[in-house]
Amino acid sequence: MTDQVKELVSKCLQARDKAYCPYSRFPVGAAVLTADGAIFTGCNVENASYGLTVCAERTAIQRAVVEGHRQFRAIAVTCDIKDRFVGPCGACRQVLLEFGSDWTVYLTKPDGSYKETSLNELLPLAFSPSHLAKN
Ligand code: THU
Repeated sequence: MTDQVKELVSKCLQARDKAYCPYSRFPVGAAVLTADGAIFTGCNVENASYGLTVCAERTAIQRAVVEGHRQFRAIAVTCDIKDRFVGPCGACRQVLLEFGSDWTVYLTKPDGSYKETSLNELLPLAFSPSHLAKN
């Protein structure tokens, strides 16, 4: 694995340790890699009004966007499940797609091993910003 992927994976694992998840007790960590090589992390932030919970992937994207980044290359996502590779929820897939479909996605286990996939693979035939373009 390249040093950059190693760093992305390690940062998503660190971010998982920051998860605020007193209701589900299901910590999730994410790290996004921008086109210019910066990394932003996110964790899930739950709320007593459950529906206000924000997933780790969206926290990471929002932190990157507010710092001026809109072009992304990859995201690494992890949770506590040891025996399977776990993908982002459907809502997060759609939020990632807002910023392009050509993302690499690293589904990461707690031991740092990962499965490489892509947003195109995770959300085929997606509704995207291009569909809103005027004809
Ligand atoms: N969660 C994420 O952070 N990302 C996902 O892609 C799936 C679910 C969080 C939301 C909630 O805090 C907990 O995991 C259980 O659903």
